[in-house]
Amino acid sequence: IKGFRAVSKAIDKYTFLRHLRESDATSFYRVLVNHAMELLPYVYTPTVGEACQTYHRLPIRTNGVYITADDAGKVGDALRTRARDVGAGDGDGKLKVAVVTDGERILGLGDLGAGGMGIAEGKILLYTVCAGVEPAACLPVCLDVGTDNQALLDDPKYRGLRRKRLRGAAYDDLVEEFMAEMRSWQPRCLVQFEDFGNANAFRVLEKYRRVQPCFNDDIQGTACVALAALLSGLRATGGQLTDQTVLFYGAGEAGVGIGELIAMAMEKAGLSKRDAMRRCLFMDSKGLVCKARLEGYGGEKFALQPHKIPFAHDVAYQPNLLAAVDALRPTALIGVSTIAGAFDEAVVKRMAALNPRPVIMPLSNPTPLAECTFEQAVSWTNGEVVFASGSPFPPLRRAGGETLYPAQANNAYVFPALGHAAVLSNAREVSDDAFLDCAYELASMSTAECVATGKLFPDFDSIRDVSKKLVASVAAKMEARGETRERVGGIEAWVAKVEREFWCPEADDAPVARSRL
Ligand code: NAI
Repeated sequence: IKGFRAVSKAIDKYTFLRHLRESDATSFYRVLVNHAMELLPYVYTPTVGEACQTYHRLPIRTNGVYITADDAGKVGDALRTRARDVGAGDGDGKLKVAVVTDGERILGLGDLGAGGMGIAEGKILLYTVCAGVEPAACLPVCLDVGTDNQALLDDPKYRGLRRKRLRGAAYDDLVEEFMAEMRSWQPRCLVQFEDFGNANAFRVLEKYRRVQPCFNDDIQGTACVALAALLSGLRATGGQLTDQTVLFYGAGEAGVGIGELIAMAMEKAGLSKRDAMRRCLFMDSKGLVCKARLEGYGGEKFALQPHKIPFAHDVAYQPNLLAAVDALRPTALIGVSTIAGAFDEAVVKRMAALNPRPVIMPLSNPTPLAECTFEQAVSWTNGEVVFASGSPFPPLRRAGGETLYPAQANNAYVFPALGHAAVLSNAREVSDDAFLDCAYELASMSTAECVATGKLFPDFDSIRDVSKKLVASVAAKMEARGETRERVGGIEAWVAKVEREFWCPEADDAPVARSRL
């Protein structure tokens, strides 16, 4: 840790930690778990973004597996051989989690082609650090299907396939071959889809989510943590879920995923499906998503992509956010647009005029892209805001001496635990109910006193305890619904099992297979 602290630049800290893993994996995992809060920003967001952008110029070797468009027809062999080469999955059933990306939409950074491997490697570390999955059972995968990023194609150092992205049937066939091989080779293994472009993300998820255990963190993990933030926030406002009207600014993977899960939760709480969907409204870069646009309003430029259509309600078109807030009178505003400052003073003040305790969640990352800051939200609502952001903000000390805390709706609260629950329980699929269970459980974990100060979730430095509870609770509920092949026998048995199976470096000094580093 001393060596790490002596390095000053973030990207150098990233390579320092990768080299530590190559030379001494046991120490790497021990230091990562024991100093998670300090180290995670350098193995994961925000530094991993820069790492993905400069991936092929960094002095690092991957510990994941590339499957390329040229492997079509022999993906199974490629997967087995290359996984063995990096020391993972050298026997049936060994792998527990694979995080797979095709590099098309890495964080907010666009198409990074084969450099997307960095995000798969970063995410998979969280399974170990946050949710106790042993490193040797984790496999990062990058489907290298080319890139439309001309700068990469022109870069002599770029090591990915030097051609335009594969699209259409050839792309679908490669994904199908990969998923089918995972099913037959590692039937218990959870596949997490990561940072696929919009056009593929929804389709691929829909195609496989009932076929094998898989989920998309950008869509479903985000939805789960955002719903948890809303539910926990309602403990502060005293409101009922079914009375909320949620206006989303941004209608991409994150927004639509959140909207669908909130609507599902509202339906379970008593609304009809139609009414629940109508409680969630979306703005995209062309204005309010509404029925008129479905019927041709605004012409081709205003046409709606398929994932937005279920939210094209019969409401009058509004060109901008302030007009939409006035017309729709939302109780909660969720920002997933990557447009910094979109929640401006007029919008936030209008929310505060409409609601004694407005819920405002600027979820866009990184911090400079947030739709508003914590300080702005507090000041423009006179401290009444119930706030959660995607990126961290510092707490605020108010004039009277009271300290207000911003909540961070960090996916890492949920996806590693959900994934581990699916693996331990040998789930047939990861159902919507599992995400709902996880959200309700997480929303109940902060004490009432903490919620009152803004801490909608437990502190992230207790993430391993939080994850243990979530894994046990979600697995027990999946078992009760008959979604699992493993039957353990109720929550207490699950708590004990999770305690036994939770990997921690202190207890297991066996070196992690060196060959995979
Ligand atoms: P995306 O690219 O799929 O969607 C972005 C959406 O914003 C699109 O629908 C686009 O039309 C809309 N948009 C762009 N300009 C706009 C404008 N001027 N007005 C209104 N809408 C506009 O991206 P994705 O995956 O949905 O992510 C969006 C943001 O959410 C990113 O900043 C991402 O970092 C953040 N995010 C936060 C998470 C969290 O807090 N836990 C998790 C996942 C994503």
